[in-house]
Amino acid sequence: MTTSILRIDASARRTDSVSRNLADRIVARFPNADVTMRDLAPGLPLIDETWIAANFTPQDERSAEQHAILSLSDALIAELQAADTLVIGLPIYNFGVPAALKAWVDQVARAGVTFRYTADGPRGLLTGKRAIVAVASGGTEAGSEIDFATGYIRHVLGFIGITDVAFVTADRLALDAEGTMQKAHHQIDALAA
Ligand SMILES: Cc1cc2nc3c(=O)[nH]c(=O)nc-3n(C[C@H](O)[C@H](O)[C@H](O)COP(=O)(O)O)c2cc1C
Repeated sequence: MTTSILRIDASARRTDSVSRNLADRIVARFPNADVTMRDLAPGLPLIDETWIAANFTPQDERSAEQHAILSLSDALIAELQAADTLVIGLPIYNFGVPAALKAWVDQVARAGVTFRYTADGPRGLLTGKRAIVAVASGGTEAGSEIDFATGYIRHVLGFIGITDVAFVTADRLALDAEGTMQKAHHQIDALAA
């Protein structure tokens, strides 16, 4: 079966972006894959009051306008549903994920579509997928208590059902770029294709 990759780039940089370079390298591990690109550098609309009202209106009761308001969210979710592997380029910005990636999460986390509430709490509906997250940071150590990016993305992917999450980490580039890139490249080489 052909691997279907959804590649999401969150770096605002298109030149010299470490997370994009790592994502390139990860995708190259799957030479026969179908790859869909979702570049978040231009940003995504923030959800607003009309979006929330449309989302909370049952699907068969939505107006044409409400369907239109949700159409981008529907398209982003369709990309996720079609993929079996997510490759996410994730720079750490101000100790968290870039705002564009948070906007993407807000667009795709929808009750009844990507997760549902059960008696045992919320259950993710996008099961059977894996994610590989390429992290880049200047000085923040991944996994440290000031890293609010990697734990967040792991949690939110799990929330929508994607619990198989691997990290490739080029963190603290400002301290030892060569060493951390070498570590990240080894992590990519060790990924199960
Ligand atoms: C707006 C902005 C905020 C940043 N905030 C942090 C931060 O909180 N911690 C950190 O370690 N690096 C921070 N950095 C550095 C980036 O994480 C680093 O340059 C990384 O390589 C960016 O990813 P990219 O190379 O894919 O663009 C920040 C960079 C930018 C542009």
